[in-house]
Amino acid sequence: MTRHLLEVDDLDPVRLRTILGNALTWKHDPGSIPQILAGQGVVALFQKPSARTRISVEMAVATLGGHPIFVRDEEVDLDRRESVEDVASTMATMCSVITARVFDHRVLERMTAVVDVPVVNLLSDTAHPCQALADLLTMREDLGELEGRRIAYVGDGNNVAASLAYASALSGVELAIASPDGYELDPHVVDRVRNLGGSVELVSDPYDAVRGADVVYSDVWTSMGQEDEREQRLRAFAGWTIDADLMKAANDPVIFMHCLPAHRGDEVTADVIDGPQSVVWRQAGNRMHAARALLVDLLSEDGLLLSGERT
Ligand code: CP
Ligand code: NVA
Repeated sequence: MTRHLLEVDDLDPVRLRTILGNALTWKHDPGSIPQILAGQGVVALFQKPSARTRISVEMAVATLGGHPIFVRDEEVDLDRRESVEDVASTMATMCSVITARVFDHRVLERMTAVVDVPVVNLLSDTAHPCQALADLLTMREDLGELEGRRIAYVGDGNNVAASLAYASALSGVELAIASPDGYELDPHVVDRVRNLGGSVELVSDPYDAVRGADVVYSDVWTSMGQEDEREQRLRAFAGWTIDADLMKAANDPVIFMHCLPAHRGDEVTADVIDGPQSVVWRQAGNRMHAARALLVDLLSEDGLLLSGERT
């Protein structure tokens, strides 16, 4: 059966652990990266802007020996010039993997319904699984074993928060999410994460979230596609900036993470994101290492056979 990654819960704990192990192995020993994409193409289709995601996918594909093909939606004009299904079917005749950043998550589901190559979600309005894989990888580097660790996510209960919740559940990480009224994580996601055995706690005071946290995490208050809500969101999130005082209420040591792009002075102060607790640049670079290991998993019969898990 074709493997896809639309949300982190398409994986299981063993595959997730193997992806992280392979990502670390190949990060430290690039000579051992399997050239499984030699002579093959991977398409990366974008309906929204990107810095990290595009670059990480292109570099992951290139270092696996393949050829990345970047396509903006303006070129294929999904569902106007041609249906999503016809665009995806065309891509699948020439490429081994379809990766896409979309607004509506259902666009990705429509692709998986018609193609027999893996489809990878590079961010939709509801999920950002590739980000969550890189986040776990970064935590693993800093904290070692993930099980029993605690992440405090402070901000909008958005796509990044949802994928982080699934990733936490699959790796035994406790997650506390503090959001203002009306901006909490979708209750369906909370239910699903709890059904997976995950520990996700929703709180309304950031100080309750960060107590005992090994990681403090934030994302923008206004995601791509929500620009019209910016003023309303600025009002709702006033007072929710992660600052040095909030960081002091977490564990010592604690790391600060952010998927980026960041808005200094909104969701986080400059002294925190540019300070010694921040790991955001390594986290950004880990997007490539995580994407590479993910592609190998998706193209493997059994990712475990490739290199096993190493730290
Ligand atoms: N974190 C992330 O996905 O960044 P881009 O939007 O720049 O790809
Ligand atoms: N939540 C943000 C993440 C950007 C990487 C967005 O969807 O715009």
